[in-house]
Amino acid sequence: MATVTRNQLSIARYRSKAAGYDASAERTMPLRRRTIALLQLQTGQTVLDVGAGTGLSYALLRDGVGPEGRVLAFEQSPDMFALAQARVQREGWTNIWHTNEPAETVQLPALADAVLFNYTHDICRSPQAVRNILRQVRSGARVAMAGMKLFPWWTGPLNLLPWLKNWPYNANPGGLRQPWRCVASHCDDFRWQGTQWGMGYIASGIYRGDVR
Ligand SMILES: C[S@@+](CC[C@H](N)C(=O)[O-])C[C@H]1O[C@@H](n2cnc3c(N)ncnc32)[C@H](O)[C@@H]1O
Repeated sequence: MATVTRNQLSIARYRSKAAGYDASAERTMPLRRRTIALLQLQTGQTVLDVGAGTGLSYALLRDGVGPEGRVLAFEQSPDMFALAQARVQREGWTNIWHTNEPAETVQLPALADAVLFNYTHDICRSPQAVRNILRQVRSGARVAMAGMKLFPWWTGPLNLLPWLKNWPYNANPGGLRQPWRCVASHCDDFRWQGTQWGMGYIASGIYRGDVR
């Protein structure tokens, strides 16, 4: 029997989710704004949107880097990426470079000055993916993250809720105690705080430049 890889499983999951994704993500827009604000983007910077999905962060990232700046992005699901492409075409944005490739092997056209991991649990759980991304990021870059996590351990069975919410979206759904761990291990001044009553997190740090 052929083995389905985690990437293939994720692509299959997003095939059915792509069409309704933007509507389902609408209520998390304030959190997205807060996470992007942690990047403290400046005019002319190059910002990387990791696992960019349908490109829901593109407008906010463009606002941050201005017309002189650039947004780089990648997304492995052809269904999600098609919607990101349609968005860029519809808006006529010219300073976005994006590609339909996985985090584990993507090659960016330039080093990034800032990196966004917004709800990219599978990518954050893969040391290979994190290393491939960070070796294409400038030392000292700001890193911002958001996603789901477990409630504190003492809440016991309540943790079924984040687990069940997380499972349909992620092919590698474990590691919900500290989902930021792999990225944080390459950052200085890494801080996180709980969101959504403890079922989510928002975090930021400064990339140490230790992946070559
Ligand atoms: C929950 S969505 C978040 C999308 C986007 N970051 C956002 O904020 O709307 C997770 C995305 O990560 C993508 N993804 C998962 N594993 C990936 C990988 N190994 N390489 C690239 N993209 C991946 C999925 O296809 C999906 O579009």
